[in-house]
Amino acid sequence: MESAERLKKIPPYLFMELRQKIGKARAAGIDVISLAIGDPVEPTPAAVIHELARAAHDPANHQYPTDEEKGMLGFRDAVARWYARRYGVSVDPQKEVIALLGSKEGCHHFALARVNPGDAVLMTDPGYPAYRASILIAGGEPVNVPIRPEHGYLPVLRDIPSDVAKRATAIFLNYPNNPTGGVATAAFLKELVDFARTYDVAVCYDNPYIEVVFDGERPLSFLSVPGAKDVGVELNSLSKPFNMTGWRLGMALGNPDLIAAISKVKENTDSGVFNAIQYAGIAAFTHCEDNIAHMLQIYARRRDLVVATLRQIGIEYTPARGTFYLWVPTPNGMSSLAFADLLLDKARVVVTPGRGYGEYGEGFFRISLTLADARLEEAMERIRQALES
Ligand SMILES: Cc1ncc(COP(=O)(O)O)c(C=O)c1O
Repeated sequence: MESAERLKKIPPYLFMELRQKIGKARAAGIDVISLAIGDPVEPTPAAVIHELARAAHDPANHQYPTDEEKGMLGFRDAVARWYARRYGVSVDPQKEVIALLGSKEGCHHFALARVNPGDAVLMTDPGYPAYRASILIAGGEPVNVPIRPEHGYLPVLRDIPSDVAKRATAIFLNYPNNPTGGVATAAFLKELVDFARTYDVAVCYDNPYIEVVFDGERPLSFLSVPGAKDVGVELNSLSKPFNMTGWRLGMALGNPDLIAAISKVKENTDSGVFNAIQYAGIAAFTHCEDNIAHMLQIYARRRDLVVATLRQIGIEYTPARGTFYLWVPTPNGMSSLAFADLLLDKARVVVTPGRGYGEYGEGFFRISLTLADARLEEAMERIRQALES
């Protein structure tokens, strides 16, 4: 059975060979440790689980969650209060907030809500691969904007040729950045608002790592910059701050026209988030703020461990200030795929080759800090032994 043409445009998984090797090793009983996936192993806070159980027992929550198509007003209110308290951002929960099934879903539905077939759509390179897929499924043409270490992994917007900017109808970006760990500055966000206004480019500011910042960096919302609400939306998620990746709960906030357009797509696609999960989300915002600092301590400890091990094997590396990923240059200019292959063969450890995030990801590999301490320690010890010998 043939798939639709639009799916054929989505690039194949670059690391098919690596994935096959991992599968083979595991099938042969070899203990392979994966540092490739950003998915916290620590459990969701108990208060959230209790609230889900309570709400799941209430038959009122068993029906379609479509009474209020943007999500329960109680959830949207909790989001608005969270944004006011933590990021100094004021939004109208009626018109400027919508519940999502995670921010990945938001990226996809933002593209369907905004992008017409043939539109140019900007995204960073390296960049989160789901952006490209969302753009292609909407019929748009992804245009890569390089991000480089010398600019703190922020795009240089003035370098985007004006004919490209004029053709573009949207831009996808995320800071704190997956995969590089780069963080945005308020000055950059102001430039982004000006750029978006000048070229009528809608901003999809994907911010699921807003709380994962280190070394005194403060969480920064795109919407805290004057004028941001005129030009875009911020996507966010409960996945990372509350260890809720499996729950599928997030939110989009910002421009009311874009929120209404996303809502229209969702009404006709998924009918929204299970009410019991929205109640659980309210509990997370209300009772579980402490989880953020708790997780940051854990990630900081793991980050130090990885940096120390890298130093021992001759990779001098200072991590950027955000996310639970480390974006590390490969040793001796090795290609990222060759280095990942070497680690798999010699250390039975999986890292993500930077090339998978775009052309400008070449020469880097990504390590995720979301696995248990003991496993990470073992992985780093294996890497040390393999590369020192
Ligand atoms: C940049 C970025 N956006 C979105 C997501 C998806 O998050 P969610 O679980 O909220 O869908 C991820 C997950 O890794 C991500 O790295």
